[in-house]
Amino acid sequence: MSGTRLDHIAIAVPNLKDALRFYQEELGLECISVEEVVEQGVRVAKLDLGNTHIELLEPLSADSPVGKFLQNRGPGLHHICVGVDDILKRLDTLKVQGAKLIDEQPKLGAGGARIAFVHPKSTGGVLLELSQPAGNKPSDH
Ligand code: CO
Repeated sequence: MSGTRLDHIAIAVPNLKDALRFYQEELGLECISVEEVVEQGVRVAKLDLGNTHIELLEPLSADSPVGKFLQNRGPGLHHICVGVDDILKRLDTLKVQGAKLIDEQPKLGAGGARIAFVHPKSTGGVLLELSQPAGNKPSDH
């Protein structure tokens, strides 16, 4: 479908500064932004990876979703994010087809994007985020 792409891969880390030491200084990726997304309970460092990004997620508190993830599973791959042009339409389609949605309505994500998560039960075991970038108006709504 048009506009569908890998938006980012997100990695949960206990400490952003330590993780950036590897990704930025040793691997040589450029850190584009560091942003607190209070609604998601995370501090996000966005690293340029050509036509996609790596996001390092540091929890703002132990009882946030990423905080709980770290306690249960330790650092590692947290989710992949597929960029879409029209998130409302995608969510409608997924709902009709019986996919298990964590968010039935989009929430506010990093950079003002509209995001929603799909449960790993429906995706082969990986938490999947859908993201419609800020300012990206759906063509047919
Ligand atoms: Co994400």
